[in-house]
Amino acid sequence: MQQEIRMFFPQRPRGAFCDPRFDEKASNCAARYHRSIPGYRETPLDSLPALARQLGLGSVFVKDESARFGLNAFKALGSSYCAARIIAEKLALPAGEISYDAIASPEGRAALGGAVLATATDGNHGRGVAWTAKMLGQKAVVYLPAGSARERVENICALGAEAIVTDWPYDETVRHAQRQADANGWLLLQDTAWPGYETYPLWIMQGYLTLAEEISRQMSGKPTHIFLQAGVSSMAAALAAYFAQSEWAKRAKIVLVEPTAADCCLRTAQADDGRMHPVEGELHSMMAGLCCGTPSTLAMEILLKTADAYAAIPDLWAARAMRVLGNPLDGDPRIVSGESGASTMGLLLALACQESSAPLRDALGLDFDSRCLLISTEGDTDRVNYRKVVWDL
Ligand SMILES: Cc1ncc(COP(=O)(O)O)c(C=O)c1O
Repeated sequence: MQQEIRMFFPQRPRGAFCDPRFDEKASNCAARYHRSIPGYRETPLDSLPALARQLGLGSVFVKDESARFGLNAFKALGSSYCAARIIAEKLALPAGEISYDAIASPEGRAALGGAVLATATDGNHGRGVAWTAKMLGQKAVVYLPAGSARERVENICALGAEAIVTDWPYDETVRHAQRQADANGWLLLQDTAWPGYETYPLWIMQGYLTLAEEISRQMSGKPTHIFLQAGVSSMAAALAAYFAQSEWAKRAKIVLVEPTAADCCLRTAQADDGRMHPVEGELHSMMAGLCCGTPSTLAMEILLKTADAYAAIPDLWAARAMRVLGNPLDGDPRIVSGESGASTMGLLLALACQESSAPLRDALGLDFDSRCLLISTEGDTDRVNYRKVVWDL
């Protein structure tokens, strides 16, 4: 089985970064809205000191998103905030004053005019859109790529949405959703941007800033390394933009992680020629949430200015990370982390445990003083595969 990880370190001066779309004020707006949603609970930021010692690191912190709104992944943060911003705009409500009571009020719901919410998804984002639609009393139509896990489809249907599995990989499924939305007058809540479609993806990215707002309050001390997994890279870019202009910016390196089979951000950064470098065709990785062939234009522009390193890892390391997080060392908490959720830990394990990774470890400056921050972005969203991986059966 393939073990090799690849990394790319862009050679760019680390200048000051400033983007008010992703600053503390923007994160406070998103967090304020999310806190007002019934059932909101901050997800935990776990410290794993025994694992850190084992890996020769100073500390390891993992934000566990498996409990987010009872949806087993962070994704609903984006679609719920995007829908709220759409309604708020219609109600002439400033971003800083958005609350669940205003958005879900009869006037708020009426502002959407009975629009169908549509999207394409590997599963988690679609579940978030279905949940958002249900919360606002709207209909949702969700398209999934060929081969999507049955449990992910069922979870979307269980929220009352229509789920349709296409015959295509993710990128073509997104184009199909866009065509269907255009033809039927639906609202496309897509979590990736392209030229001419940037407002909703921006609001989705800003919704992810609630993660940053919570982490900033939960973490004691500053991280030296922030590991972020990327599909289309909206989540990674939103958090990278936030942290790159925070008080952590000077010290913390931002490291992006993708599956080897879908390393579109790494390829685009490496080429650095002002164009996207998509991965065409079928994308074979169990990290379904990260199986995207083309980065979001909005997100990639930010990553090119903020990411310190890009990594591509094969499934094997994500699988090892799922097992390590699910079987903690003495005193460390147990974290149930799915394929995409565990990917960043997969990279950390590969860097720390493989002798051949020593040059990469050195290039990143990973050592006994390192304070590593990771986000387990999902729990066991495909329980059949989770068990298969963890039991190795
Ligand atoms: C669990 C999980 N983690 C990470 C990501 C990556 O987010 P993005 O597509 O914004 O890069 C996804 C995307 O669906 C996901 O489902």
